[in-house]
Amino acid sequence: MKHTCAIFDLDGVLVDTAKYHYLAWKELADRLGFSFTLQDNERLKGVSRMASLDILLEVGQMTEHFTQAEKESLAEEKNNRYVEFISKLDESELLEGSLALLETLKAKGVKIALGSASKNAKMILENVGITAFFDVIVDGNAVSKAKPDPEVFTLGADQLNVPYEQCVVFEDSQAGLEAAKAVGMLALGVGQEQDLPQADVVFPTLKSFPVGVYF
Ligand code: G6P
Ligand code: MG
Repeated sequence: MKHTCAIFDLDGVLVDTAKYHYLAWKELADRLGFSFTLQDNERLKGVSRMASLDILLEVGQMTEHFTQAEKESLAEEKNNRYVEFISKLDESELLEGSLALLETLKAKGVKIALGSASKNAKMILENVGITAFFDVIVDGNAVSKAKPDPEVFTLGADQLNVPYEQCVVFEDSQAGLEAAKAVGMLALGVGQEQDLPQADVVFPTLKSFPVGVYF
C-alpha cells in the first residue's frame, strides 16, 4: 500500500549522532567506575535522557546509589558533554542516503515529520541543514510520554491530519519500532536485522530504501 506521510527518528536514522550519545554515556560510566559496552547501548537507543540514565545505572549496578537530585545532575553532566559533540556537527554527519530520501519524498509531496525523543533535536537539524524539510517537528520537549509510548509519532500525524496507517516510521531503536507498531504505522528498521526484531522490514541504510514501493 502507498503511504502519505514519513515520520523520521533523528539520532541514528538521519544523523550519525547515536555514536555521540554512546561516547557521552560511556564517559559517565567510566567516571562512575563501570564499563558500558556498545551492546548495552542498544537498550538506550530511542529512550529518553532520564530513562537512559536509569538503564545505565542498572548496568553498573548503581541504581540505589543516587538521590533524584544527584541523578538529575548526572544526566546534565552527560548532556553537557553530548552538546559539546553536537555543537560541531555539520552536513557531513548526515547518514548515508538521508538527504536524497528527504529530497525525493519532498518532490513526491509526501508529508514529512520528525519524531525524536531528543530535546536537542532542533539544534541538530539546524546544524546539519535539514530543518526546512519538515512539515512538523515533534521532539523530546513536545512529548509527555517517551517511546515505546507512540505519542511522539501520533502528535505529528495528528497535526498533519494523516491516518496512522498511512504513516511510515523510520527507526533505529527497539522502543521506537514498538511505538510505531502500537498504533498501526509501518515500522521500518534502519540498521542491523538482529538488533531490530520488531521491525516490519529492516534496511541497512536509507540509501537502500526503495521509495516507490512504499510511497
Ligand atoms: C534519542 C536517542 C537517545 C537519547 C534521546 C534523548 O532518542 O536515541 O539515545 O537518549 O534521544 O536525547 P537528549 O538529546 O534529549 O538527551
Ligand atoms: Mg534513534
